[in-house]
Amino acid sequence: MVRFALVFKGRRSSAGALVSPRAMPQMRGVMSEPLIIALDGPAASGKGTLARAIARHYGLAYLDTGSLYRGVAYLLLRAGEDPSDAAAAEAAARRFSLEAIEGADIRTREVGAAASVVAAQPAVRQALLDFQRDFARRPPKGAKGAVLDGRDIGTVVCPDAAVKFFVVASPEVRAHRRFLELEPGRPDLSETEVLADLKERDARDAARADAPMVRAEDAELLDTTHLTIEAAFAAARRVIDGVLRRCED
Ligand code: CDP
Repeated sequence: MVRFALVFKGRRSSAGALVSPRAMPQMRGVMSEPLIIALDGPAASGKGTLARAIARHYGLAYLDTGSLYRGVAYLLLRAGEDPSDAAAAEAAARRFSLEAIEGADIRTREVGAAASVVAAQPAVRQALLDFQRDFARRPPKGAKGAVLDGRDIGTVVCPDAAVKFFVVASPEVRAHRRFLELEPGRPDLSETEVLADLKERDARDAARADAPMVRAEDAELLDTTHLTIEAAFAAARRVIDGVLRRCED
């Protein structure tokens, strides 16, 4: 169920949406700072689709932070290295660039699994942190803000984001969505295997010591289990518009 009514230090904004206390400087005047919207949540919960729609609608830049971890994992696998080898993973993260993975298929099942192994290593996370923060602070192409999706955006990368969502869906629905994405190229794959992959990855992402996947206390919970893409986007827009209205007050 989508929860709209959030509390801001005991008060509600006009739209009932939470405005992060840490984001208040961003809210004064109409955004002297870039508008940052953070979406976190487990694998295949719909946050990427939602993040892209939000970025398009509000004219913001978009960063799929999972692609950085997937990219590092992809480069390691391609070089025949072990994603759990901390030294190799750190070196790959330090020399990582988006150009290095241009055109590469990083959305495979194998790369996803290796990405969560790589992502549990603090040195890898540290190496990718500046890139993510720079993107948020200085969005490319003069965009007035940025939408970032991942696991630790609202908690670690951009704790001051003006709007935060934690996007969830039932494991079965997530597995079905991911199965439909993967299956055309993998007729051998079953939905049960995809479900097992997601559960394993979520458990690893939530249990790691460094920047685990967790809902920020000021993040709006958005459950997309029974929502179409349009309905999820409409729910997110209501929250964001409420925050933007507040900025203009
Ligand atoms: O698209 P999907 O939900 O399957 O995952 P993703 O966003 O592409 O992320 C792949 C993996 O990268 C995750 O399972 C995490 O282990 C890691 N990741 C992370 O640790 N922190 C982020 N901000 C984004 C991704």
